[in-house]
Amino acid sequence: MVKANFSLHISGIDCNSVNLFGDRAALRKTLYNFADLYDKRPFDNTGGIKFASAFAYYFFLQQIAPKVVIESGIWRGFSTWLIDSMLPSSQLFCLDPVLMMPFKFESAYRPKRAIYSTQDFSCFGFSSETASQACVIFDDHQNVLPRLEQALHYGIEHVMLDDNQYAETYHESISHLLKNNHPILPYLFESIEEYYLFPPLIPPIPEECPVEPLWNEIPPRLQHLDIESEFAYTWVTYIRLKINSKFQFDAD
Ligand SMILES: C[S@@+](CC[C@H](N)C(=O)[O-])C[C@H]1O[C@@H](n2cnc3c(N)ncnc32)[C@H](O)[C@@H]1O
Repeated sequence: MVKANFSLHISGIDCNSVNLFGDRAALRKTLYNFADLYDKRPFDNTGGIKFASAFAYYFFLQQIAPKVVIESGIWRGFSTWLIDSMLPSSQLFCLDPVLMMPFKFESAYRPKRAIYSTQDFSCFGFSSETASQACVIFDDHQNVLPRLEQALHYGIEHVMLDDNQYAETYHESISHLLKNNHPILPYLFESIEEYYLFPPLIPPIPEECPVEPLWNEIPPRLQHLDIESEFAYTWVTYIRLKINSKFQFDAD
């Protein structure tokens, strides 16, 4: 039985529908608290998450409250700023090959307390103690199946994905697998306890998006934000893995 916020239609997998956003007053309060934090952002991000996706991170991370956050794909560090600000006591690992590239960002956020590495997540070697307290965030544009297998191998239960989109791109997402009714899905979802796609904040609904926007129009508190860029939808998804399961993405 997988808990999800929309129908997955995977053969042999029962789906328990969860309404994550039923408490509208609580959702509005979370949004407004986040808007206060976002107004203090160190720079306007480019090449990474903006308001809508940062809010999705905030919503999920607040619920998980992990003691360890592993970021795979940091770019200028905007998502690192968000995590550093909202989880000041967490241990932070930031992995990205960009750190060995010979150019400097005009603006970047690299807190001293974070552990930085250019090693790939697959070979970093997280201890089982670290993994058991961790949420890993994949915003590294790598194929999702090996990433989930690696997370399970470490014993990491909490996973967030950015760019889990239906439209074709250069990495494979779970939405792609769902769209193509890929035969691996029943095996994959046997290793998944919960699967939540964060909805768009406001219309329009992106093509093939299976969840409704959270608001019909921009809430008054957000009127100052640029509608074109800040509300862009990037298919942020939270997955809770069954850490004792043995998913292998290339199994026959
Ligand atoms: C979209 S950016 C990340 C944006 C960042 N999370 C933010 O919101 O500001 C994608 C990043 O993935 C990085 N990347 C590419 N391959 C990677 C890998 N194997 N492991 C970790 N990061 C990788 C790229 O260098 C790039 O910095």
